[in-house]
Amino acid sequence: MGKITISVIKADIGSLAGHHIAHPDTMAAASRVLAEAKSKGVIIDFYVTHVGDDIQLIMTHGKGENSPEIHGLAWEAFKAAANVARDLGLYAAGQDLLSEAFSGNVRGLGPGVAEMEIEERPSEPIITFHADKTEPGAFNLPLYKVFADPFNTAGLVIDPRMHDGFRFQILDVYEGKAVTLNAPEELYDILALIGTPARYVIKRIYRKDGLLAAVVSSERLNLIAGKYIGKDDPVAIVRAQHGLPAVGEVLEPFSFPHLVAGWMRGSHHGPLMPVGMKDAKCTRFDGPPRIIALGWQVKNGRLVGPADLFADPAFDEARRLAQQIADYMRRHGPFMPHRLGPEEMEYTTLPQVLERLADRFEKVEEAPKGVHKERSKML
Ligand code: 13P
Ligand code: 13P
Ligand code: MG
Ligand code: MG
Repeated sequence: MGKITISVIKADIGSLAGHHIAHPDTMAAASRVLAEAKSKGVIIDFYVTHVGDDIQLIMTHGKGENSPEIHGLAWEAFKAAANVARDLGLYAAGQDLLSEAFSGNVRGLGPGVAEMEIEERPSEPIITFHADKTEPGAFNLPLYKVFADPFNTAGLVIDPRMHDGFRFQILDVYEGKAVTLNAPEELYDILALIGTPARYVIKRIYRKDGLLAAVVSSERLNLIAGKYIGKDDPVAIVRAQHGLPAVGEVLEPFSFPHLVAGWMRGSHHGPLMPVGMKDAKCTRFDGPPRIIALGWQVKNGRLVGPADLFADPAFDEARRLAQQIADYMRRHGPFMPHRLGPEEMEYTTLPQVLERLADRFEKVEEAPKGVHKERSKML
């Protein structure tokens, strides 16, 4: 067996009852397209699922990352699903398919993509994470803990194969530039960047010997489209065990439902709630933001599984805490920091309000010299 590639490609092509949940008929339409491709040998294996209103295509194949054939297949599957969504009158049908034309790669067209080409180990445990009502930077905090925090990952201290640490490739999504930083040597620099998750996103993590351990989708739809469309509900692939963090170490950070950007109208901070598949739907205030974790063994490209990893009472307390945080945050109503800051408000009337009130603002004092013009434009 040569190298195999795992491609997780997701899109919101419309959903049932608002932005709540993908309709089974749309997933069936996507599955039919992938089943045919599997029967022709284009892909080795696949699994179609959803979290909230996002359809998730998990595929294995031998064609490498960014393969036009695989991206074209995903595009075809999403288009078939979107046609069903339109037939059923689902909400925001075709939401994430920003273009009619496919030109060899789905990046930049709306769907989110996480792909890794790997040399399969004799036993290859992999976790795919799928989140709704949040953004790619939501993975910054948990992945930092998994690969750089010995209070989370015992193996960083105990396992000689991990003791040298990991390399983090961090993407500046505003500038389209990436920097690679070493853990543990440059921990504080890593944190200085990834503490701003709207802009700096962990893209890939490598073990120091070069082994690729994790990859995150980094598409930011609104930055691509230039206006609010939906959140860039992210996916990630993480390899585990045998010289990498154990499955339990990879899941451990999600016992803390940290605050992420997204939720209602893509414009609010809320807790990221780990849930099993049966709860992978967004209700309260279109949320709270949710994440599922699917456990796989990949064997000769075959997807063995999934195990529904958060469907476990061990995460009940995290869910309960998430509910309490949701209550607490909701009571702020339209106030920051529940509502996102002005630079991140994606579904906003603020510019119109400011424009309408512009004439009614009267000068009462000199503006302090230190306040930058651009900054004072934001409310
Ligand atoms: P609509 O104006 O399409 O109802 O958008 C609101 C919304 O669902 C965003 O969360
Ligand atoms: P999605 O990004 O999941 O479509 O959610 C849109 C939204 O505005 C929910 O309130
Ligand atoms: Mg939606
Ligand atoms: Mg969504």
